[in-house]
Amino acid sequence: MATIVGGLGTSHVPSIGAALDKGLRDTPEWKPFFDGYLPAREWVREQRPDVAVVVFNDHFNAMFLDRVPTFAVGCAPSYRPVDEGWGPRAIPAFEGESRFGWHLADTLVASKFDPEIIQEIEVDHGLQVPMELFWGRPADAWPVKVVPIFVNVLQYPIPLPERLYELGHALGRAIETYDSDQRFVVLGTGGLSHQLQGARAGFLNPEADHRFLRDIADDPDELASWSREHYVETFGQEGAEVIMWLVMRGALSRDVVVRHRHYFSPASMTGAGMIVMENAV
Ligand code: DHB
Ligand code: FE
Repeated sequence: MATIVGGLGTSHVPSIGAALDKGLRDTPEWKPFFDGYLPAREWVREQRPDVAVVVFNDHFNAMFLDRVPTFAVGCAPSYRPVDEGWGPRAIPAFEGESRFGWHLADTLVASKFDPEIIQEIEVDHGLQVPMELFWGRPADAWPVKVVPIFVNVLQYPIPLPERLYELGHALGRAIETYDSDQRFVVLGTGGLSHQLQGARAGFLNPEADHRFLRDIADDPDELASWSREHYVETFGQEGAEVIMWLVMRGALSRDVVVRHRHYFSPASMTGAGMIVMENAV
């Protein structure tokens, strides 16, 4: 049976990728942000995961309003990085673990979740940026296979936080019952506080971000009980995408050990958070 080595949470702001593309990593503005990820990268190197399940949302780059799956599971052999309008980025395609994708879809349906199943799609900054933050940019191939879980957090009605947490429980069961000796890591991405448009454009809530980084480890049931509106009020219209971390958290056991945690604000217009958790034994 496969094992879960841990859960990673991170923001996925596109300007992080742009900063790396432009060679800005060690500038005074960006260095403290990227240096905060060094212990997490060391953890990933030590843990040697074979598969990364990445919970993220497409930001109208690979899908648009003509089809909005609430949940979708990637079962593709590989995922090319989508061009978001600034030209192709110099990162390799992501190899998929499609056999697990099908097993996950099967487990979700048996758990009364009915995801869309996707066999061909490109992936945007929601997946690209977290992968580069935790694994660095490889010359020709990523050292880990990916299984994307797409969540609609853009077009209302978005799913309930509680539902995402339950989806995470089913994901955990899918990993535990997968006929493989592979090592899995689960990534929850997005947030933390930010609002990019409307009357509250530029809204940040570092205090709530710090509380979230504590409670996602210690009190996920409380975070799962919040309404969607409470997420929007607390983290901003777009910052409410942080509910996707609940899928990652739900795949872990009730008690976890926090290995690393980092906060930096603002990265572009966003409160940027990161956490590394392992199941308590
Ligand atoms: C931005 C986009 C995102 O998807 C996000 O999570 C944070 C910030 C942006 O365009 O600045
Ligand atoms: Fe986003």
